Amino acid sequence: MYEFNMAINVIISALIVIQSALSLPFTTLFFMIDSKASVFESGDDMYTVIWSTTLPGTGYVTYSYEGKEYTVKDEKNAALRTEDSVHSVRIPKKHLDNNTYTYHSQHIATKRAYVSVKGRTVSSDPVEFKGYSGQDEIHAMILSDIHENPVNAQKAVDCFDIPADLLIMNGDEVSMMTSERNFKQVLQYAYRFSGGKIPILYTRGNHENRGEYGSDAIDIFKTTTGGLYYTCSYGPLQFLCLDSGEDKSDDDWTYGGLVDYTSYIAEETEWMKSLTLDENAQYRICVSHIPHLKNRYGNDWSEILTELGIDLFVGGHKHRLHFEWNSKDETPFYQMLDGGKNGKDRYIATMMTIKGGQIDILAYDNNKELRGKHTYYFGQAADSSAA
Ligand SMILES: [Fe+2]
Repeated sequence: MYEFNMAINVIISALIVIQSALSLPFTTLFFMIDSKASVFESGDDMYTVIWSTTLPGTGYVTYSYEGKEYTVKDEKNAALRTEDSVHSVRIPKKHLDNNTYTYHSQHIATKRAYVSVKGRTVSSDPVEFKGYSGQDEIHAMILSDIHENPVNAQKAVDCFDIPADLLIMNGDEVSMMTSERNFKQVLQYAYRFSGGKIPILYTRGNHENRGEYGSDAIDIFKTTTGGLYYTCSYGPLQFLCLDSGEDKSDDDWTYGGLVDYTSYIAEETEWMKSLTLDENAQYRICVSHIPHLKNRYGNDWSEILTELGIDLFVGGHKHRLHFEWNSKDETPFYQMLDGGKNGKDRYIATMMTIKGGQIDILAYDNNKELRGKHTYYFGQAADSSAA
C-alpha cells in the first residue's frame, strides 16, 4: 500500500511539474511587481519591508551595511515562502535608516518535495530610505480611513508644502479584507504616500478585520508580539501602536459567531500592562484606530495609557477631525482624531509637526481648505486655537 501511495504521489507531482515547466515560458512573462515596497515599523527596532507580485514567488531584500553585503529572505521556519504573492522581510532599523535597499522576487511556478519550477527574477531600482537623522523638527503625516479613496487623500496630502518624515496609517484604509487583493490595495496606498522612503506606522481598523484575509494579513507584518500591536521610536518620539479590534461585540450578528476579539484584546491588554516605555522619550504617542479607550472588550485602556505616561492619543474611525476628543474622560493625556474620509466626497489629511515641547497640527481637505489648526503644549494647558 505504501509503494502504491508513493507511486501515485510521484505521478501527480511529475504531471504538475511537467505542466508548470511547459507553461512557464508564457506565465513567467506575467510575473512582475504590482505593489512597490513600503517600510513598516514592526516593533523592537525592526522594520518589515512589504511588497507584492502578480504571481507567487520568493522575496528578498539586498543592501550593504558597514561594508558588509546583506541578502535577507522572506522565510518561515527556514523555508522560503513561495506560495504567496505578498512578500515581507524583517530588517533591523539601524541597517536601513539613511541607507539604500533593493528588493527582488523570483517567480516560482511550482514547488514539490524534490523538484521546483522557477521563472524569472524581477528587481526594484535601489530605494533611498530616510530614517531619523537627528533633525529638530519632525513631520508626521496621518492618513486614516482612506476607505478606497486615495485620489481625494492625495489631493489633501498635496496641500502640505513640507514632506513627511514618517507616515501614520491609522486603519480602515480599505473597507474589507476578503482577499489578498484588498491587502495589495493597502500596500499601494502605503507606497503612494511614502514612496518606500520613510517609515510607516500601520494600525488595523475595524473594517480591515472583516473578511477571510484579515487575520492572515497580520502575519505579514512579522511583529514581535505576533499581533498588530507594537512599540517603536523615531528620535525623541516613542509610539505605542495598538490594534483596537472591532467596533461591536463578538456576539453581534455582523460576525456570525466566528470571531473572538475578546481573547485577542485580552492578550494585547496583558502585553500593554507588561510594558515600560522609554523614560528618555520626549513624547509618548499612542496610535489606535478606535478611540473608545474606557472599554475595549471589557478592558480599560485609558487607565493603562495613563500609567504608561502617554502624552497624546491619536485615533481615527469617526471620520471627523476632532481635538480634545473624549476630554470628558479626564485622562491626563491629550486626545485627537485625525479626520480621514469626511462625508461622501471629502477627505481630511493631518500633519503633526513636533518641535521643542509642542506639537503643531494642521489639517487640509481635498478641496484645499484648511480644516484645522491646533497646538499641543506638553507640560502646559492646551491651546484650542482653531478647529
Ligand atoms: Fe473604523
